[in-house]
Amino acid sequence: MRAFPLTPGMLCAALLLMAALSSSCSPSVNPPPVQAPILWGDVKPVVSVKELMRDLIDPIADNIFDAVSVIVTKGGEEEKAPKTDEDWQRIRTGAVGIAEGAELLRIRRPFAPAGDLNNSTGPDPVELSPDQITAKVEKDPVEWNARAQAMRNVGLQVLEIVKRRDARELWDAAENLEEACENCHRSYWYPGENAQFYEKLNRRLEQLRRTK
Ligand code: HEC
Repeated sequence: MRAFPLTPGMLCAALLLMAALSSSCSPSVNPPPVQAPILWGDVKPVVSVKELMRDLIDPIADNIFDAVSVIVTKGGEEEKAPKTDEDWQRIRTGAVGIAEGAELLRIRRPFAPAGDLNNSTGPDPVELSPDQITAKVEKDPVEWNARAQAMRNVGLQVLEIVKRRDARELWDAAENLEEACENCHRSYWYPGENAQFYEKLNRRLEQLRRTK
């Protein structure tokens, strides 16, 4: 009987088969962990960024902005700070709204409703058009996501403050929030905000007044 010829290729295939069998049978080898998908299903935006701001982010941010203030009265200054459970719950609602709302900004959506060009037309435009904003985000989505993340972080900070019920820290947090909003707006919405920006804005308002 002729010996079965074993070519190097066959040897290789046999070794590979043995290795595969031994790893799949051996109880000591753990299968790689299966990463659960982050989303349970499709996500579909309902509104544009502009409407998301007007109808969700802006009003919910007020739960934080309005939590502490100094009221000047005839009798002097009076500081407003959260006291009751409801006061703190309103702030927690704001914190969750801001932290989770930031994630909604990461869902691709139009920047403004169809046909709305912002104040981006005319001789002294002060805002970028939705198309210009889109182009800027498409070019560098990392920056956009980082700006949304910065807002999310303030939401997390406020959640911690609510746990400790530390009203004094709310002053700092409100300032951080203001900064997170404004940094994004200055980069994407009205990037020309400087002395010239206000000159343009004034000229524009003057023009509007004259045409009325
Ligand atoms: C990641 C970026 C980003 C962050 C963070 C952000 N915004 Fe905005 N916001 C925008 C952009 C872009 C627009 C302009 C959209 C447009 O008009 O095309 C806008 C518009 C707005 C408007 C105008 C809405 C209107 O009806 O004209 C308000 C009000 C607003 N933002 C409030 C806020 C507040 C308050 C915060 C923080 C709590 C915030 N935004 C955080 C990107 C951001």
